[in-house]
Amino acid sequence: MSVDLSKAIGYQLQDQPVAWTKKDLLLYAVGIGAKKDDLPFVYELDKSFAAFPTFPVVLNLKGQSTDVTDFNKLVQDSEPVPGLPKFDPRRIVHGSQSIESLKPLPTESGGDWKLKRRIIGIHENKSGVIVEVETLLVDGNGVPYSRMVSATFNVGGKATGQKFSRVIAVAPSPQAVPNERTPDHVVTEATSEEQAIIYRLSGDFNPLHIDPRPGQKAGFGGAILHGLSTFGFAARAVLKAVGNNDPTALLAFGARFTSPVKPGDSLETSTWRMSESVDGVIEVAFLTKNLTSGKVSMIGDEVMRPS
Ligand SMILES: *[C@@H]1O[C@H](CO)[C@@H](O)[C@H](O)[C@H]1NC(C)=O
Ligand SMILES: *[C@@H]1O[C@H](CO)[C@@H](O)[C@H](O)[C@H]1NC(C)=O
Repeated sequence: MSVDLSKAIGYQLQDQPVAWTKKDLLLYAVGIGAKKDDLPFVYELDKSFAAFPTFPVVLNLKGQSTDVTDFNKLVQDSEPVPGLPKFDPRRIVHGSQSIESLKPLPTESGGDWKLKRRIIGIHENKSGVIVEVETLLVDGNGVPYSRMVSATFNVGGKATGQKFSRVIAVAPSPQAVPNERTPDHVVTEATSEEQAIIYRLSGDFNPLHIDPRPGQKAGFGGAILHGLSTFGFAARAVLKAVGNNDPTALLAFGARFTSPVKPGDSLETSTWRMSESVDGVIEVAFLTKNLTSGKVSMIGDEVMRPS
């Protein structure tokens, strides 16, 4: 297959069938650190029981499976995209992720839900190739419930050797963190030593998050926490601090991953209110640090309308 990045832009991948039950919502909630007082997310009989709004990000790897999956096989068998070179699966890094909530998610899927995915951006630079994928979660009638954009950085990937950069659609663009201002809220929370072995049960069975050996080889000194678990910790922190912990308040949430987190690290999420519109839509910039080392692990933005 010949390499032609412009051919890959706009390419529609095969639809991916997905399914979830209430148990999947409970499992995801504890994977992102929900506690015993977060009843709407951890107790199915709570009168406000709902999916934590970032839940759909797990569906890409979960699919319809209710069992464990073989991560390496999934990567090996992933659909080839015309125009893209073959990348080294061991050197794929999750660069950023966003999710926009378009409609409240039912607590179980039933019916034939699917992910519709297309390539919306490609950038090549000296260190590799960045591929941006837009994913729409749609129900059996094709009605979209969430829109997600994820960017993967294929370290060491080579295509044209030129600086190539094209996008046909974008994620909501985050505002820069106003470093000169003290944050409006600071939330500190410890991840547990077992965080990754819980989070993986939501569908990301990459050995990097449980077997210390691949992480040692990659220079992380052992297993690292799933970036999307840290993503969920930050979403919980911001929703609690600014959105009254109301699952329907979150309109959009996005983050860039800047350095790994280890299970057991304490996270400090600082939030800055950036703007508030007349109809109560608040935009917040945030930054999540490994509290012990002070290293920034994630930078992002959340848009919400608290009730
Ligand atoms: C290439 O892009 C990646 C991901 O955005 C970035 O981390 C890296 O520093 C870039 N490298 C160069 C040489 O610009
Ligand atoms: C977080 O900080 C602590 C203390 O410096 C360190 O032991 C730990 O490895 C850090 N985590 C990462 C992923 O760097």
